[in-house]
Amino acid sequence: MKVLIVGGGGREHAIALKIKENPEVTALYAAPGNGGIAQIATCLPFKATDVDGIVRWAAENKVDFVIVAPDDPLCLGMVDALAEQGIPAFGPRKNAAIIEGSKVFSKNLMKKYGIPTAAYEIFTDREAALAYLETVSFPTVIKADGLALGKGVIIAETLSEAQAAVNAMMLEGAFGKSGERIVIEQYLTGPEVSVLSFTDGKTIVPMVSSMDHKRALDGDLGPNTGGMGVYSPVPIVTDEEMTSMVAIMDKAAAATAATDGARDYRGVLYGGFMLTPAGPKIVEFNVRFGDPETQVILP
Ligand code: AMP
Ligand code: GLY
Repeated sequence: MKVLIVGGGGREHAIALKIKENPEVTALYAAPGNGGIAQIATCLPFKATDVDGIVRWAAENKVDFVIVAPDDPLCLGMVDALAEQGIPAFGPRKNAAIIEGSKVFSKNLMKKYGIPTAAYEIFTDREAALAYLETVSFPTVIKADGLALGKGVIIAETLSEAQAAVNAMMLEGAFGKSGERIVIEQYLTGPEVSVLSFTDGKTIVPMVSSMDHKRALDGDLGPNTGGMGVYSPVPIVTDEEMTSMVAIMDKAAAATAATDGARDYRGVLYGGFMLTPAGPKIVEFNVRFGDPETQVILP
């Protein structure tokens, strides 16, 4: 069996090492891969977002199975394009990847299906967003709607910081199109824990809990990053909290399957939770393995 992994980080290296353990895999490729992956697979000179190039190569070289690991090719519809060529893939289609690709979509989905999350309002108009800020308590959280590599979230401690964030997103275009629509939401407190689950869009199989380190600079004083270091399992998670998070993930899988027709979800649904005093709440969904989480979970 010929397997192709799309992506080129530590996450993809961890996936490659696991896939390599399967004796049925006769050839392993990565696009673009990296120096570590090159020791166990053949790296191909494609960017992970080169949907046409990768799909054409996979078809011409009769690849049997593709694992699309990063969010951006999933949101660009790589799994759909592979399906058109009859190539099965691990990862959701474009219409399901939007659960990560649009925070507005995901917040509305959570509201509709009663999935616990921070209270929020959505804005497309800067003046309206600025007026709303006059009514909230601080800290408050401001999020660009679209993908921004984990950097489109600002936790504003004061009104002037919040105004600056809204202006950066909606006036100065700091996150491009991703910031044309924003979410302003309630600030949650508590430790953050991730629960990744395999799903076929109907049932879920949860993996062990993990916790990545988010904020840059010593003393957690810097901006959010996409995650820089991670451990698993998370010892502070009680059995009761794990049960509650798994139940929430079950509900989320059902919601992704039910919304607006079948979304045909196959892959990993990643629940980013905050263990608030009122119980676990979802901070975000990702539609893929976490990076760096995968590097501790898969081994
Ligand atoms: P997100 O991209 O939505 O996961 O947000 C990135 C990070 O910002 C999260 O992992 C949290 O550390 C922080 N964050 C996001 N939303 C909130 C919130 N409502 N309250 C507190 N922190 C948050
Ligand atoms: N480490 C967070 C993420 O993969 O989104």
